[in-house]
Amino acid sequence: MERLRTPGAMRAWADARRAEGARIGLVPTMGYLHEGHVSLVRIAKARGCGAVAATIFVNPTQFGPGEDFEKYPRDEARDLAMLDAAGVDAVYLPGVRDMYPEGHQTFVDVTGVSQGLCGAARPGHFRGVATVVAKLFLAAKPHVAVFGEKDYQQLAVIRAMNRDLDFGIEIVGASIVREEDGLAMSSRNAYLAGDHRVAARCLSRGLFRAKELFGKGERDAAALVAEARAAIEGEPRAKLEYAEGRDPVTLSPRSGRVDAVTILVSAKVGPARLIDNITLGN
Ligand code: PAF
Repeated sequence: MERLRTPGAMRAWADARRAEGARIGLVPTMGYLHEGHVSLVRIAKARGCGAVAATIFVNPTQFGPGEDFEKYPRDEARDLAMLDAAGVDAVYLPGVRDMYPEGHQTFVDVTGVSQGLCGAARPGHFRGVATVVAKLFLAAKPHVAVFGEKDYQQLAVIRAMNRDLDFGIEIVGASIVREEDGLAMSSRNAYLAGDHRVAARCLSRGLFRAKELFGKGERDAAALVAEARAAIEGEPRAKLEYAEGRDPVTLSPRSGRVDAVTILVSAKVGPARLIDNITLGN
C-alpha cells in the first residue's frame, strides 16, 4: 500500500493508474476507522475498481468553533493496518498545510440541500465538506467514490456538487453498518462510555420503531417521525437536536401521506453529537 502525503503525489498516482487503464475507486475518511469504513473499500472493489485509494484527513474547515476538531480521535498506525488488510492500494494522508496552504481562499458552497438538519446545527460544515471532497476528487481522479449513508445529508451534498460541477464521478452510497445493539458505527462513538453508550441506543431504537410502524401500514410522515423523536426525548441522557422526515432523494421536507420517506435524527449524548437515519419505503 503506497502512502501519499501531498496533492502532487496523489495526482501522480492517479495519473499512473489511469494510464494503466485501471478504474480508480476512492474512499474518503477522517480516519479512526471502523467496520463501516472497511465496507466502503469492499464496495469500491465490488464496483470493479482495480485501484482503490483511501484518504485520511481530519478536515479543519468542516468543524465549527468549539467543535471537536482538536480532540477528534486519531490512530494512524491502526488505520493503516486496517486499510492494508482491506486491500487498499494507496492511502492519501495530506497535512493541513498541504490541503490549505497559506493564502487558500477558494471554497465550494452547495446551497439548497446543505440547508436545515446538520446544516442548521453546524453552520459552514457542508461548505468545508464540499471543499475538501472537491479537492480529494481533483487529486485522486476517481471513477467511483464511496460514502456512508450514515451521513445522509453529506451524501446528498456531494451528489449535488458532483452533478453541478460536472465531476462525472459515480457516487455510491453504502448502507449504515451497525453495532449489535443497533447503534450506527461512527468514529465519534469513541466518546461514549458507560451510561452514555447505553443511552446512545435511543437514536436507532426510535428509527426501528418507525420502521415497524411503517411495516404495519402507517404512512403519515408526522406519525413516523414522532416515533423516532419520542425514543430520543424519552432518554434523559440524550438531548434531541432534530428529528425530521425528508424526501429520500431531494431531502425536501415531507408531511402528510408518504410512500417513501427518510427519517433523519440527531442528538447529543454526553460529549458526543450523534446522527442516524432510516429510509422507509424504498
Ligand atoms: O464523512 C467523512 O468522514 C468526512 O466528512 C469526509 C467525507 C471524509 C470529508 O472530510
